[in-house]
Amino acid sequence: MDAQKVFIIFSLFISLSCATNVVDFCVADLSFPVGPAGYPCKNPAKLTVDDFVYSGLSVAGNGSNVFKLATNVAFDVTFPALNGQGISMLRADIGVGGVVPLHSHRVTELIYMVSGTMIAGFINSDNKPFFKTLNKGDIMVVPQGSYHFAVNTGNTPAIATATFSSANPGIHVVTTSIAANNLPTDIIQKVTLLDAKQILQLKKFFGGSN
Ligand SMILES: *[C@@H]1O[C@H](CO)[C@@H](O)[C@H](O)[C@H]1NC(C)=O
Repeated sequence: MDAQKVFIIFSLFISLSCATNVVDFCVADLSFPVGPAGYPCKNPAKLTVDDFVYSGLSVAGNGSNVFKLATNVAFDVTFPALNGQGISMLRADIGVGGVVPLHSHRVTELIYMVSGTMIAGFINSDNKPFFKTLNKGDIMVVPQGSYHFAVNTGNTPAIATATFSSANPGIHVVTTSIAANNLPTDIIQKVTLLDAKQILQLKKFFGGSN
């Protein structure tokens, strides 16, 4: 057995140990590959309190994009202490007229409105939309797997946090799923009923092809 295989089996063993709650925490060692139970642990003897504190959400992310949406995430990849804890968070700064584009993830989300005003909503599996204007201090739960969105309807930037029941929720944005890759346009057209011209325009914008 070569060294790499031993390494992978060893990391799997550590991940599984973490999954069965035999340790209090398992700060991710990002030099290993991630598995279904997360990353293997850093040596606990080498941890300090600073491993458990993350200041990345004190500032806005980069909002220079078509959605005017700036996100900074505290997921396992940026805040390794979340590994194995089943929780994570992001900060969203939505510019005036900006949006959080329609997307879904595999876990539940809790939105907390820090400042500004936005319409937030989700669509359930019966195609029923639930949406409402959120103001400072409001929270809203977004059920796992549902498509959801937000629109800044105020005249100031809107700031919200989102907390997820996973250390890494995975995010599928509908528009970029369609337009930021090389899935052939005729297939997209068939499976979405969208117009080919519109698909090609979106592909051009988001760097897709075919
Ligand atoms: C923000 O993102 C844009 C678009 O990706 C990029 O051109 C720009 O350099 C980024 N700005 C900063 C400060 O990182």
